[in-house]
Amino acid sequence: MKDLSAYKNAFSALETPFYFYDTELLSRTVEEVRRAASKYGIDVHYAVKANVEERLLHIISAAGLGADAVSGNEVSRAVECGFPKNRIVFAGVGKTDKEIRNALGIEAFNVESLQELEVIDAIAASEGVVADVSLRINPGVDAHTHKFITTGLEANKFGLVPEEFQAAADLLKRLKSVRFTGLHFHVGSQITDVQDVFGQECVRANEIANFFESQGLALEHIDLGGGLGVDYQTPDRNPVPDFELWFSTIANNLPKRPGTRIFTEPGRSIVAQCGSLVTKVLYIKERQTKTFAVVDAGMNNLVRPALYGAYHRIDSLDGRGASARKYDIVGPICESSDVWGTDREIPECSRGTLLAIRSAGAYGSVMSSSYNLRDKAPAYFSEDFNK
Ligand code: LLP
Repeated sequence: MKDLSAYKNAFSALETPFYFYDTELLSRTVEEVRRAASKYGIDVHYAVKANVEERLLHIISAAGLGADAVSGNEVSRAVECGFPKNRIVFAGVGKTDKEIRNALGIEAFNVESLQELEVIDAIAASEGVVADVSLRINPGVDAHTHKFITTGLEANKFGLVPEEFQAAADLLKRLKSVRFTGLHFHVGSQITDVQDVFGQECVRANEIANFFESQGLALEHIDLGGGLGVDYQTPDRNPVPDFELWFSTIANNLPKRPGTRIFTEPGRSIVAQCGSLVTKVLYIKERQTKTFAVVDAGMNNLVRPALYGAYHRIDSLDGRGASARKYDIVGPICESSDVWGTDREIPECSRGTLLAIRSAGAYGSVMSSSYNLRDKAPAYFSEDFNK
């Protein structure tokens, strides 16, 4: 992993804004998740929704991870990028008939309602196959994270709630074209209270697993979803998230069941830190109380700050030696929320200074839009510069 300022000359020749991915850091991260997972006997499925860049998906699939998809297109993209179809799980509250039909043959549909279970059964029957299904459970666990990215509460639209468990078990025993394989959970994202939140998730998962087993439904796997948080404040201090802590928490809180494998679905923790959104300062606006640095990347390229009030560290790539100044760093979009950061202290910048918006590899490019009819930011990869 090289310091981003080492790329300053190469970046100066490129049109901004663009995403830059440190593929060496991604490889290190994937290596570490694999090492920790094999130590605790955990099977990792990368949550494709976090970043769908084909080059990155090839690195992740080559390391032997499975995939977690939430749309038919994500299932197809995962297959195209080397994930075996039988290592792909598919969640989502609104799977269409076409998406279900095309996905038959995957490792498991994570089924979110009783009606969906019947629809999958009917579609599989019409194709003359049996679909492997797992029930997505809403475990009632608070992820202590932003309300838009907490998913495991009764008020959220995801999964089945306890009142539906008996009916689900009865239905599974009756339907002929679905085969029960396990349970699926996901409590939220950017979870930093790792031991507390994932510990609670494991305790609930164990209770619910006991119920389904008592119904004579054997569990081939329990999928605990994703959610491990990353260090947005100081990414260089923690470029690789603490997978060891996450997986040891699972191992310590979920009693082992013979014949039941444990799945996880990390997205952010795999790809966030390897990505930066590189942008250029267009204008400096001096006001009496503050100074704006207007840059050429906007909320259409990375919506997290505008949508969640999310913090992304911003580094200057050419500030060596310059004295620090405070700026409100803002984008070009005609919305007041198009702000990258207020009162950010960075080396003094001027028109043309390159800035890197850090930890942008997850939920960055995938959530971009063409608002204001702006172009999509292209992607560049460190391995192409290092040759
Ligand atoms: N599995 C399921 C069923 C999920 O819904 C998600 C994320 C994941 C796995 C992966 O979670 P992760 O490891 O990435 O936390 N756009 C938001 C995050 C939305 C997460 C949605 N579900 C953001 O930018 O913070």
